[in-house]
Amino acid sequence: MSNLSRILYLSRTSLGVGDEALKQILEVSRRKNKELGITGMLCCGGGHFIQVLEGEQEEVFRLYGRILDDRRHFDSVLIGVAPIKQRLFGSWAMGYLANPPEVMEARRKDLLAAWAGRLEADELLTLMKRFAAQLKV
Ligand SMILES: Cc1cc2nc3c(=O)[nH]c(=O)nc-3n(C[C@H](O)[C@H](O)[C@H](O)COP(=O)(O)O)c2cc1C
Repeated sequence: MSNLSRILYLSRTSLGVGDEALKQILEVSRRKNKELGITGMLCCGGGHFIQVLEGEQEEVFRLYGRILDDRRHFDSVLIGVAPIKQRLFGSWAMGYLANPPEVMEARRKDLLAAWAGRLEADELLTLMKRFAAQLKV
């Protein structure tokens, strides 16, 4: 059964990671993602990455775990993870978009604001509280 999920995260580019490293990341990503049934896009510019990964939940989580360990970036913030019915980037093993620094700064700010806006505001907290209450019994 299909169990699709999507992840969106942002991170900062490590010092010294330039065009050549980026080319390599994209080459490997496209090859491996095809094998894993992962699709998505990578935006980069101004020292920032924003990436969307979508595919089978287990594969997406496993890949994100591997990417987190990659020293070519740091300070990753997981902005969103959700089950999906359909892919947004179905035909892209890894689409690439280079943005000017000011665009990336603006996107990053928007995403972080959206993330901060979810502070204790979603159903997850209610579920967790219910769970915690059970644990105290
Ligand atoms: C910002 C960023 C995005 C990446 N995206 C992917 C990706 O979509 N797919 C992928 O296989 N590797 C991606 N990588 C590279 C992985 O971290 C890893 O180097 C690569 O998958 C090779 O893994 P392996 O050495 O375990 O085979 C990304 C790395 C960075 C820094």
